[in-house]
Amino acid sequence: MRHRIANVSSRARSVVITTVLVSCSVVALVAACNQTMGLSANDPALIARGKDIFRFDTFGDETFWSDTLRMHEVIRSAVDPTTALSVGLKVDTDSLPPAVVQGIQNGSISLTSPATTVALLKLNAVVGVKGTVTTLNGQDVLTRVGITCALCHSTVDNSFSAGIGKRLDGWPNHDLNPGAIIALSSALTPAQKAVYNSWGKGKYDARYNFDGLNGPSVIPPAYGLNGVSSITYTGDGAELAYWNRYVAVTQMHGHGSWVEPRLSENVQNPPDMVTSKLAALQAYQLSIQSPPAPTGSFDATAAARGRVVFDGAGKCATCHLGTLFTDAPGRLHSPTEVVGEPEPNGAPSFASRSATKMYRSTPLRGLWQHAPYFHNGVSTTLDAVVELYNTRKTLNLTTQQKADLVQYLKSL
Ligand code: HEC
Ligand code: HEC
Repeated sequence: MRHRIANVSSRARSVVITTVLVSCSVVALVAACNQTMGLSANDPALIARGKDIFRFDTFGDETFWSDTLRMHEVIRSAVDPTTALSVGLKVDTDSLPPAVVQGIQNGSISLTSPATTVALLKLNAVVGVKGTVTTLNGQDVLTRVGITCALCHSTVDNSFSAGIGKRLDGWPNHDLNPGAIIALSSALTPAQKAVYNSWGKGKYDARYNFDGLNGPSVIPPAYGLNGVSSITYTGDGAELAYWNRYVAVTQMHGHGSWVEPRLSENVQNPPDMVTSKLAALQAYQLSIQSPPAPTGSFDATAAARGRVVFDGAGKCATCHLGTLFTDAPGRLHSPTEVVGEPEPNGAPSFASRSATKMYRSTPLRGLWQHAPYFHNGVSTTLDAVVELYNTRKTLNLTTQQKADLVQYLKSL
């Protein structure tokens, strides 16, 4: 990471280094100190920059979403706000001037006109979508469009109406149907469109464009990851920046480079608009806490009993260890140990398509917020998760133990 830190000004660099030394001398865990870029997570300026990148940076991916997929043409001709909301796109009210809020409220701004979508893009109010709007003969025209990290990893609190509200960064957008959105492009073959349309809401296949296989995974949260040194469902990277680079270059199709010898991947898309941003981007994500379970959403007494089941009869704590609830990076698990496989619909093993061929014990934070569960979403509720473990691992838990365990999971 030396070359990345070198991009930070020398004053900021000395701050970063001081933070590193202080936290490493105080924190006993060597593993935490090894997390090179995570250590700068306390620098407010770096975090603020990372927030901006997370929300608004396309890494130049307009060359893909506009030049190749022609998405700007689709949006300006056919995607009115109602359609956009129906495929799970979100609108950020903090970007809207009061007159626009009022117009939406009193109906004078049409939510069934693509021109309104263009107006929202001009205001930078569509979460995760960055548009360039040019005024031609007095008319606003969407000329380019790109996507940002926030598209999949942010949602809104619906405080204005469904899909419209204040941003919640790090919360996976499980209303979003990325496949259905991509399939709107006229640049794809019918066979490709069929694959994209098969994924469904809240899922995306980050390997399809390499191996041509179809087995989407659930969009995971990008919160609660501070201290986790094993990234993705399959633990492919030691830090967030590993995967952030992968997605920015190979999925968002931003400009930069990606090399992964374990999968014989080498993607070069100059000029590099990714590397210099990774430290800030990582620092921001590490600063996002997992949202605590809302008061009243679980029974605290039952949860306390459930914790005993988690640590004891349920054997959950043999893999979901410590405060982060994971035994990674020390240990990953083969597909045969994991109740999330076999894959639904005869899809190929997700792990087999990864660099490690294994699964990471998922850190269990904010579970109440991000159903469905497991990499492929096979369990839609926490009751189903517990039932699956009980059956597959022959735990013989009583009805009471199962119910208590669910309350505990809801409390995390
Ligand atoms: C099109 C949707 C999409 C976009 C855009 C996207 N991601 Fe993801 N992200 C996913 C999916 C799906 C996974 C799960 C992949 C896996 O585990 O194999 C994932 C995994 C992750 C993880 C791993 C979480 C964990 O528990 O280890 C992080 C962190 C993350 N993304 C951050 C980002 C950042 C930062 C960006 C922007 C550079 C980004 N993502 C862009 C869909 C997306
Ligand atoms: C052998 C190790 C192991 C044991 C034992 C284990 N888990 Fe897991 N757990 C994992 C792995 C690995 C995953 C990721 C699997 C996947 O995504 O398909 C996982 C995923 C999960 C998830 C899904 C999290 C998410 O965000 O998708 C939950 C919930 C969970 N485990 C709860 C439990 C509970 C409750 C128990 C005890 C009854 C338990 N686990 C026992 C290894 C284990």
